[in-house]
Amino acid sequence: MLRVTCTIAALACGLPGLAVAQPSAAPQALMSKECGACHMAFPANQLPARSWAAVMAGLADHFGENAALDPASRAAIEGYLTANAATGRAKALRGLAENQTPLRITELPSWQREHRGKVTPQKLAITKAKSQSDCVACHAGAARGQFDDD
Ligand code: HEC
Ligand code: HEC
Repeated sequence: MLRVTCTIAALACGLPGLAVAQPSAAPQALMSKECGACHMAFPANQLPARSWAAVMAGLADHFGENAALDPASRAAIEGYLTANAATGRAKALRGLAENQTPLRITELPSWQREHRGKVTPQKLAITKAKSQSDCVACHAGAARGQFDDD
């Protein structure tokens, strides 16, 4: 795996700070650009693959916005998200039935349990979060998938 990474991204492998470069670096960058245009690009491991597939299938009517992409970009981003999605015993999936396909991280039972009493209107106002979905307002490392550093 790492050897493949280095072949594809030889430059990145030479730079110590980029040691975590993934084979999927290009789709990830595309995702950051396209999905990050309106909100933080949510980390793939916060939803199961079936949810990402559903989100990506409905981009033309995405929470009241048109977030449609060209087919190639859509496929590349969906490939990245589903390949890096939450699986098995991941914390994000605790309490979620296999036949449930939430389109939101904030609909996950685990998210709701973690945030009980923490996303009240007052808390949102203090943190200047646009909504409870504005992870980065409260979690500085959210875009890097870090939620326990605050
Ligand atoms: C044109 C703007 C726009 C673009 C582009 C966009 N989104 Fe969204 N997205 C929204 C809005 C608006 C919401 C709802 C936010 C809220 O409820 O506060 C949202 C919410 C979400 C949520 C649910 C967040 C939660 O509450 O847990 C997910 C997941 C999501 N977007 C994924 C994506 C992905 C993946 C992409 C890129 C393929 C993307 N979005 C691109 C506007 C956009
Ligand atoms: C209004 C502030 C606020 C918003 C918005 C918010 N969170 Fe949190 N979150 C918290 C607090 C407070 C905790 C509990 C303390 C902690 O662990 O940091 C928490 C805990 C968590 C945890 C558990 C961390 C651990 O230690 O295991 C995760 C995961 C998480 N949040 C993800 C998210 C995601 C994803 C979003 C956006 C969809 C989000 N949060 C939005 C305030 C917020």
